[in-house]
Amino acid sequence: MKSLLRITTVLALFVTLSACGGETNTPDKKTSTATAKSESELTSFQLEHGIGPVVEPITLGELNMEWVEKGRAIFEMKCEMCHSMDNRVVGPALGDVLEKRTPTYVMNMILNPGEMTKKHPEAKKLLQEYMSIMPFQNVEREDARAIVEFLRTQSDS
Ligand code: HEC
Repeated sequence: MKSLLRITTVLALFVTLSACGGETNTPDKKTSTATAKSESELTSFQLEHGIGPVVEPITLGELNMEWVEKGRAIFEMKCEMCHSMDNRVVGPALGDVLEKRTPTYVMNMILNPGEMTKKHPEAKKLLQEYMSIMPFQNVEREDARAIVEFLRTQSDS
């Protein structure tokens, strides 16, 4: 009898404790703190140029036609099913993307779309608007750089 009583007490205590835990830690609260935290944790570099692997700003020199052609080929193979230059497809039109984003931002979006759409305010907005996820297309950094070079030739066309 005594031991039964003890078990009941322990049980009751346990229930009370977990109930308390539940109250102070509602799933809603948790998510909103996490989101707020990750956004405020972005550096000003990341806000302007996106979230790495590219962590230094790319400077564009004279147009490199070899890269343009390489970029075009990769674009046709791995991007064109979702992007055109002047119309919305699955994703946004990219003809004027370099007028809105830095070259480094575009490279980081290509190389790290998962993290970008989770943490970067601009990419998060696009995800909400387009409601589909841009997958990482298995491209190397040099490929992303070549795509930027190709995109340079596409504005105003
Ligand atoms: C399966 C469809 C899909 C493929 C393939 C795809 N994208 Fe995207 N892309 C999207 C969507 C959708 C978005 C908007 C963000 C989101 O919802 O993830 C986007 C966003 C972008 C952006 C950001 C534009 C802006 O205004 O900030 C760039 C740049 C981009 N894509 C380039 C590329 C390149 C280059 C490739 C090929 C290597 C590619 N994408 C392949 C669907 C795709």
